[in-house]
Amino acid sequence: NATAFAMEFVPRITRAQVMDVLSSQANLAGYRAVIEAAYAFGKGFPMMMTAAGTVAPAKVFVMGVGVAGLQAIATARRLGAVVTATDVRPATKEQVESLGAKFLAVEDEEFRNAQTAGGYAKPMSPEYQAKQAVLTGEHIRKQDIVITTALIPGRAAPVLVSAEQVASMKPGSVLIDLAVEAGGNVAGAKAGEVVTTANGVSIVGYTNLPGRIAADASALYARNLVAFVGLMVKDGALTLDMEDEILKAAVVTHGGAVVHEGVKG
Ligand code: NAI
Repeated sequence: NATAFAMEFVPRITRAQVMDVLSSQANLAGYRAVIEAAYAFGKGFPMMMTAAGTVAPAKVFVMGVGVAGLQAIATARRLGAVVTATDVRPATKEQVESLGAKFLAVEDEEFRNAQTAGGYAKPMSPEYQAKQAVLTGEHIRKQDIVITTALIPGRAAPVLVSAEQVASMKPGSVLIDLAVEAGGNVAGAKAGEVVTTANGVSIVGYTNLPGRIAADASALYARNLVAFVGLMVKDGALTLDMEDEILKAAVVTHGGAVVHEGVKG
């Protein structure tokens, strides 16, 4: 008879932004992905002109520009990298450019309709994915670091970087796959592991990146929870208004039954 809520089902409406755990954690994951990339990469990020010679800036490509991708772009830019990014949702183009990065995507009719009413990506057709692979393939070959964050709610993550594309990269290059738990965006990525390929490229498949910035992750998650629990308290007493839009969307079990449509077997 327990009433259970799933924080990841809190709807992304303005009133619920303060409870949005997906955003609070994805933002930190995007930041941490760049830090992990910098650690695994044997070279620097910024251009440095010194008496002993010039250090070239790192080239970073971010695939998937949701909350995590945007923070990854911003963090890589702050470290001085030359950043490019891609997404299938047209709204991301302006966001990428406003962060000082360059946008790269197949901008056809399908692209113009790729965003759902809820702001998420739709699964793209095999034809679109083939065109996308040709465009990004040539680009990936020249990158030092590729960070992938592409997810489609309720489905396996799309494979955006093939084994051939990984093999085309320079030795010492690094891929960070944030979608590894959803099947992975990078061919050969393994959850919880760093895979080094025959050509010396590292594929980092760490799970739970927010756990690698744990103090901030806990603090932001706690604030999300306090705001959520606040919805259930009226005049100092626990009062569940199951008609509240947010509680209704997030409840999983109530009154001795599984009530969430997405969880019912
Ligand atoms: P997500 O974690 O579901 O996916 C990450 C990104 O991968 C998305 O930008 C998606 O378009 C992209 N993607 C999917 N398939 C791809 C492919 N084949 N190639 C390249 N990229 C691909 O996304 P997230 O971070 O949950 O954000 C989703 C949306 O929700 C965004 O529009 C965001 O602005 C919005 N949002 C709204 C909030 C609100 O309170 N209103 C709060 C947070 C996010």
